[in-house]
Amino acid sequence: MAAKHVYQRPPAGAAADWTVPQNWERFTPAEHAVWDGLIERQTRAVEGMACGAFLSGLDILRLPAPGIPDLAELNPRLRAATGWEIVPVPGVIPNEPFFRHLSERRFPAANFLRPANSLDYSVEPDMFHDLFGHLPMLADPVFADFMVAYGKAGLRAEGLDAVDQLGRLYLHTVEFGLVREHGALRVFGAGLLSSYSETVHALSAPGVQRIEFDLARVMQSDYLFDKFQRSYFVIASFEDLLKVTAETDFQPIYDRLRNQPLIASGAAVAGDRLVPLAETAAA
Ligand SMILES: [Fe+2]
Repeated sequence: MAAKHVYQRPPAGAAADWTVPQNWERFTPAEHAVWDGLIERQTRAVEGMACGAFLSGLDILRLPAPGIPDLAELNPRLRAATGWEIVPVPGVIPNEPFFRHLSERRFPAANFLRPANSLDYSVEPDMFHDLFGHLPMLADPVFADFMVAYGKAGLRAEGLDAVDQLGRLYLHTVEFGLVREHGALRVFGAGLLSSYSETVHALSAPGVQRIEFDLARVMQSDYLFDKFQRSYFVIASFEDLLKVTAETDFQPIYDRLRNQPLIASGAAVAGDRLVPLAETAAA
């Protein structure tokens, strides 16, 4: 999720690109039951709050058998939709291999699941966050292309010492993004959609800022690690997000922002276009 990592080099059993075999057979009946419980509960929870692309993409996860998806069955379905596939990794991986996987249409997903006694919270992004939160959007052709553009931008940002600025684009869209759809706000960020309470908070809590997306503003905006955000960004469409990511030269923005302070979550600055709370509940 965030641009930090636990490992310095691939651990034993991982390939040079950090991928590991899924070893689907090793998941226990208890782990499959945890997965089924999470999916059932969260699928119901996000209805009416998730964007249309996410709800359509959830179909990819509906395999004939219950339990944790076997990637040998799931990946052909995702590949047929957008050319993407899921690759299992041991946990959060370093930036370079992460960006490279994205740029080549592979989404690294943690190969472990939160325990049954911690359904609402996973210390690190786990398989439920990565598959339930991220995979449905990867089945949307426009969002899928945006993620490729982001991965390519990431590889360039590494050479420009600008990974932190670029990483904020990911956090405020891929993880915590809102989109305007048929005149109402809907959620597409995986960090939100894998957490019912923050999804409700993002759409309806008073005192929270919902700000129209602006690339430089987003890249300058800090975020909160261990509590709900106090600012969320609203994109007009996935086409817009793809266009701005694929067609903008980020380097002048990086250079301009490098010596400027971050804008705290919840702070307002001149030029912000705020979305009134009433709009979040509109049709
Ligand atoms: Fe994530």
